[in-house]
Amino acid sequence: MRQEIGVKSRAGVVGLGAVGGALKHVLEFYYDVRGYDLNGEGAWEDVLDTDTVFVCVGTPGGSDGRLDCSQVTAVLKDLDQEAYPNPVVIRSTLRIGFMAEATARFPHLRLVYSPEFLRERSRLQWSVCPDRIVLSGEERDIKVALRFFEWVEGADILVMDHRSAEIAKLAHNAYIATKVSFTNEVEEICQRLGADPRSVMEVVSADRRVRSPEHLRPFMGPYGGKCVPKDTMELTAAARDAVLLRAVHEVNERAKDRARADSRGDRDIAAAQSGDDVAPPKAVR
Ligand SMILES: NC(=O)c1ccc[n+]([C@@H]2O[C@H](COP(=O)([O-])OP(=O)(O)OC[C@H]3O[C@@H](n4cnc5c(N)ncnc54)[C@H](O)[C@@H]3O)[C@@H](O)[C@H]2O)c1
Repeated sequence: MRQEIGVKSRAGVVGLGAVGGALKHVLEFYYDVRGYDLNGEGAWEDVLDTDTVFVCVGTPGGSDGRLDCSQVTAVLKDLDQEAYPNPVVIRSTLRIGFMAEATARFPHLRLVYSPEFLRERSRLQWSVCPDRIVLSGEERDIKVALRFFEWVEGADILVMDHRSAEIAKLAHNAYIATKVSFTNEVEEICQRLGADPRSVMEVVSADRRVRSPEHLRPFMGPYGGKCVPKDTMELTAAARDAVLLRAVHEVNERAKDRARADSRGDRDIAAAQSGDDVAPPKAVR
């Protein structure tokens, strides 16, 4: 396989946490990959000698509800200073409007946004088999970026403008948050009115329009994990008047209170934490 697909292409990965580490691991099957992380892994100079750099640094939630993209900006600044000539593909989740700002601030960088959708607790499987690849940027840069995903089978390739890609990434996590909160609200209603939430949600999920029963099981606790809360908050804070998402947040806060007060053994809070179990899968190929 390594012989067939782009053996000469060289990829750089900056930020080797959950997302960058998984990306590097998977790309290494097919390409020459150089990783760099502030924690001491790899060397910055090696990353510069590549055909594309993937930026996978953290974007934590800020106190105003918006995502803090300063780590991404710092990497772009460094790449700009080095006059990096090839596409720079940002995989980190961005605050809405970041790509427009970055394009204006770093006009010489060939910026592509390609948000990551993996689930942290099974990140290697998700990296090997993504459901979709989202890309925004100049056509010629997207083409180069896509060379590094030639091995992907069966995923939708979705090309759009920067703003749509930014919102799409957040909307996906907000949808998960909404689904979890819906289940939590039905669970609470059932308990208050004397019904069995398991039977009720079994009926809801046994429907071809609803399909996956994931996140529709009662007693899974509030939504959590590293990304779903902060990304949902970014969309809510950026929109200012997102009535439904504000309610979703409120329902989740109530679910947190109930989880704290409820010490029943059948409450599987971890199931709702969309990805904080970091055990890597045994087999990834
Ligand atoms: N973890 C997930 O499940 C997940 C899923 C999809 C998207 N995302 C998004 O992907 C991004 C990365 O998430 P993560 O979970 O991998 O974060 P992480 O905190 O696990 O890893 C980020 C890494 O970047 C490194 N770093 C920071 N600044 C750097 C710099 N200037 N140069 C080199 N390395 C630097 C840090 O040392 C750290 O190891 C975030 O925007 C996150 O929202 C995460």
